[in-house]
Amino acid sequence: MAEAMMGGRPYAVSPFPARAFMLCCDSALTPIRALGRAPVRLPAQAGIRPGRRPPIREGALMPVVSLCSTKGGVGKTTLAICLASAAAQRGAGVVILDADPNGHVRAWREAADREGRGGGVDVIAGVTEATMQDRIAEAVERYTLVVIDLEGAASKAVTFAIAESDIVVIPSGISGMDLQEVFRTHAEVKRAEKMLRRPIPARVIFTGMATIASRVAKHARQEVIDAGIPVLTTETIRRPNAYQSMHFNGLTPLEPDGDPKAAAEIARALDEILAVITPSEAAA
Ligand SMILES: Nc1ncnc2c1ncn2[C@@H]1O[C@H](COP(=O)(O)OP(=O)(O)O)[C@@H](O)[C@H]1O
Ligand SMILES: [Mg+2]
Repeated sequence: MAEAMMGGRPYAVSPFPARAFMLCCDSALTPIRALGRAPVRLPAQAGIRPGRRPPIREGALMPVVSLCSTKGGVGKTTLAICLASAAAQRGAGVVILDADPNGHVRAWREAADREGRGGGVDVIAGVTEATMQDRIAEAVERYTLVVIDLEGAASKAVTFAIAESDIVVIPSGISGMDLQEVFRTHAEVKRAEKMLRRPIPARVIFTGMATIASRVAKHARQEVIDAGIPVLTTETIRRPNAYQSMHFNGLTPLEPDGDPKAAAEIARALDEILAVITPSEAAA
């Protein structure tokens, strides 16, 4: 059974009503409370069409961002939590769908709740292949940004998430094995594009990098670009203190007592991602 978990308090940074829901069955969200407001009711289920998301409308941003790689340990979960936290700080209503059976986002949410951190980021845990499309359809009705943390494997759940995504972010290290998995993951995105006959933007982000780019790092970036896969300019630097304590104490770099350099690189990554999926003013 899937569960929704409340983001931490306070919600001072978010103009959106606080949300607290419990998923009580596979097809419905039932609110358990709505802090100081009348309980939020779900629109009729008929109004939710799994697999048929409306296009992003200007001024009504509700993109779905998937963190996706067929490889584990490349920074998907870390980025999912950090990007979501950065977006929440900017006032977005953000939810992370935890679709990794290991439940690391859920564990982060619990740690953050214990420590009174992680404000503005809700988590829906236990999302599976069977529930992915419904959970996404429900989430886009309620949140301005939906971030999906996926398991490090090729699975149906991953395919469904890709199919519903406005952008697929592929984190990677710089080893040959990492790059192989980037190509594999990107091939999955391409397959989904063909199936759906719509473009699904994908971007690689290099994670856990050295502060000074090595020859190997430059080579890795070039290989990905040469394969026709766009790469974010922003990389995350290897910062164990900034990123690894998150699961123990809920402290993301974005918190006031977090790591400002890590927060800055996350903010830049978020800007780059949003630039891909947000219609530019020039295009309006
Ligand atoms: N930029 C970074 N600097 C240091 N450690 C990192 C960084 N990004 C991720 N990590 C650590 O690497 C490990 C794997 O990251 P994780 O986000 O769990 O990967 P995935 O979700 O792809 O399996 C975790 O221990 C995480 O804390
Ligand atoms: Mg993970």
